Amino acid sequence: MEEAVHKLLEAAVKEIATSGSNLQELDNLRIRYLGRKGELTQLFKELGRVPEGDRPAAGKLLNELKVELENRLSAAVEGAKQRLLEGREQFDVTIPGRRPLRGRLHPVTQISFEVSKIFNSLGFEIVEGPEVELDYYNFEALNIPKDHPARDMQDTFYISDDVVLRTHTSPLQVRVMEKHRPPLRIIAPGRTYRCDSDATHTPMFHQVEGLMVGEDISFGNLKGILTIFVHQMFGPDVALRFRPSFFPFTEPSAEVDIECVMCRGQGCRVCSQTGWLEILGSGMVDPEVFKMVGYDPDKVTGFAFGMGIERIAMLKFGIDDLRLFFENDLRFLRQF
Ligand code: FA5
Ligand code: MG
Repeated sequence: MEEAVHKLLEAAVKEIATSGSNLQELDNLRIRYLGRKGELTQLFKELGRVPEGDRPAAGKLLNELKVELENRLSAAVEGAKQRLLEGREQFDVTIPGRRPLRGRLHPVTQISFEVSKIFNSLGFEIVEGPEVELDYYNFEALNIPKDHPARDMQDTFYISDDVVLRTHTSPLQVRVMEKHRPPLRIIAPGRTYRCDSDATHTPMFHQVEGLMVGEDISFGNLKGILTIFVHQMFGPDVALRFRPSFFPFTEPSAEVDIECVMCRGQGCRVCSQTGWLEILGSGMVDPEVFKMVGYDPDKVTGFAFGMGIERIAMLKFGIDDLRLFFENDLRFLRQF
């Protein structure tokens, strides 16, 4: 018996050593020696055949072997696990993590939100309308009949004879007045389209339409509201001017220019050497338009304006070419 025990221990020690750090192999060894049908268990069964006088000593020896084997196996398993962990720690914990890319609002969207916020605070409600628009709303109802020369002011993308990509947000004036009675105060932000392309014109751009109608709304109200807007948007010392202009749907009409922020009014490429940059068209709603929507021009008056969002973004961020907004170059967009 004693000999068998020593043999078994010797064999097991050798095998544990050659198992390397393989956890699976160590488990197999545990089963082979200590399992229910394991070799050590067999020896315990043979205890009955040992002469009675030698039995206690043999039993003690077997128990010692069992403890010894168990200890060696668990030590080997621990060692194997430790080595696995160390292997896994071969990365440098001081390397900074990879930041997830975070999107942000496009500068044109940011400005559009800012414009809406200012007019919201002045009591204007936000409305929206279709970009593919009927010729009727884009032109006819705004006092621009089919053969009217004013149609040449805007190079139009026609879908069909009666359907266009809206060239401005002014159709919203008509759509809103058709549905609601005065008094009203709305702004309508959205995309607009014209066959146009240079440093200050793109084929797709954004406008915000504004409309205020009620009793006794005057040109003074128009000037007041737009001046408050420009000062809130660009700061209180930025110069602006109301320049007489013409639109078929307003009378009188004015365009608003602000001091070119690129050259501070000195004259440059962006402002075509004038020192000023046009940001919007405006005027008192023409009585003809009121008649189209069933308002009585003797009872109500109102003003409207339409501003270019990209122009405002250009001035606000000091960008000298509008086309940069639409090239989707991340190096450009990340700056805002
Ligand atoms: C209009 O579109 C009129 N509907 C504005 C208006 C509304 C007048 C209500 C009276 C009452 P205009 O064509 O000037 O007007 O355009 C208005 C603004 O849109 C311009 O001042 C300019 O800032 C911007 N804009 C016009 N064309 C482009 C373009 N191709 N790219 C970028 N911005 C443009
Ligand atoms: Mg204009």
